[in-house]
Amino acid sequence: MMTLTQHSYTPKKWDLSGLQGISDKTLEIHFGLYEGYVKNTNLLNEQLSELLAGGKAAGADPHFAELKRRLGFEYNGMRLHEYYFDNMRRGGGGEPSDPKLKAALEATFGSVETFKRDFAAVGAMRGVGWAIAYQDPANGRISNHWITLHEDGNVAGFQPVLVMDAWEHAFLLDYKPAERPKYIEAFFSNVDWAVAATRLTKAA
Ligand SMILES: [Fe+2]
Repeated sequence: MMTLTQHSYTPKKWDLSGLQGISDKTLEIHFGLYEGYVKNTNLLNEQLSELLAGGKAAGADPHFAELKRRLGFEYNGMRLHEYYFDNMRRGGGGEPSDPKLKAALEATFGSVETFKRDFAAVGAMRGVGWAIAYQDPANGRISNHWITLHEDGNVAGFQPVLVMDAWEHAFLLDYKPAERPKYIEAFFSNVDWAVAATRLTKAA
């Protein structure tokens, strides 16, 4: 019997109480949802390993195929929440002070203000998903993308620099569904620009 190396993910913890415009209750529920993605990622990996080890990995088998398809949803759900919670902090907001981040944003958008306007517009798009500012490692360019659910729209090889959850569970306790712009404003007032700066690619 084949033995496979298992890697199990452990949920991360954040101390984000006292953010501006995003309540502790919202965060508490949100951390719980995040932990569900970690749990399901581990579960899927286990089930798929068992199928493989048992000689039952077959693309034509709908059960195998369905589990494989769900990996994109659960993995991205786990990882994007980690980027999101990591790029906020109490007392955050303001303008990026890191010269490389500032330069990268200005090189693409002309000004940080224009970048923020574009990012906010992406975040306000109708639907369930994420607004993500990526950097292209090939040329350093920053571009803002809408990700539907967790997995549709991520660009292979692009580096996430700033990640914002735009699912309604991220703000529905604090704002009405139509008030998403207020949530986006709150997000910007909590952004940890120093963390965003550490994500810049080496190429840039
Ligand atoms: Fe979320």
